[in-house]
Amino acid sequence: MIITIASFKGGVGKSTTAIHLAQYLATRRSGGKVVLADGDPNHSALSWGRRSPGCKFTVIDADDDLGEPDHIVVDTAARTEPDELLALVEGSDLLLLPTAITSFSLEATIKTLVNLPQLPPDRYRVLLTLVPARGQAREAQAREALTAVNLQTFKSRIQSRVIFADAELEGLTVDKMKGASAKAAWSDYESLGKEVTKGWK
Ligand SMILES: Nc1ncnc2c1ncn2[C@@H]1O[C@H](COP(=O)(O)OP(=O)(O)O)[C@@H](O)[C@H]1O
Ligand SMILES: [Mg+2]
Repeated sequence: MIITIASFKGGVGKSTTAIHLAQYLATRRSGGKVVLADGDPNHSALSWGRRSPGCKFTVIDADDDLGEPDHIVVDTAARTEPDELLALVEGSDLLLLPTAITSFSLEATIKTLVNLPQLPPDRYRVLLTLVPARGQAREAQAREALTAVNLQTFKSRIQSRVIFADAELEGLTVDKMKGASAKAAWSDYESLGKEVTKGWK
């Protein structure tokens, strides 16, 4: 399975999602070989990978030979131009579009996607990220705005938690961190991982 992670704004949790989804796929019981292909010239995932010697998946440059892993998670540049999006869809089983509800990100996602009616509904999902702890009302509004224009969203969403920055600094994924916040943060990505593996084989 090839999962590509893209967005129309930077800083919405693409690399964080790529790393944690790769970790989910690599550590679940039926997990095979997982490669995270870093397609961002900033190489955030690659530099994280260099700090993570015990990591269960391989992080490589997207321009390098990917080999034949069971799953490829592709992280992309800070922002994708709308006209590049269809090519990304064609090259992937699933295009995952992290979108923050706290920023202009939601607006950018909606504006871009509604202009792409040829986007097959089974090939992409919007993932709400950086959802504030007491952000249920805003999350509901964001979901309404997306559904009103027929955009497909994951049921799972990723709450905003400081533990993600701590894990990033240590070259870890949140499932390797201690404490209740780390557990809750990982359960958000587990829930996403389950939706992904149920819907796309
Ligand atoms: N759920 C989250 N809660 C809190 N901080 C997060 C979360 N996801 C990502 N971050 C932080 O936000 C920043 C941007 O995330 P990143 O994954 O690099 O976004 P992108 O790849 O879209 O630019 C990073 O410092 C990261 O640690
Ligand atoms: Mg990134």
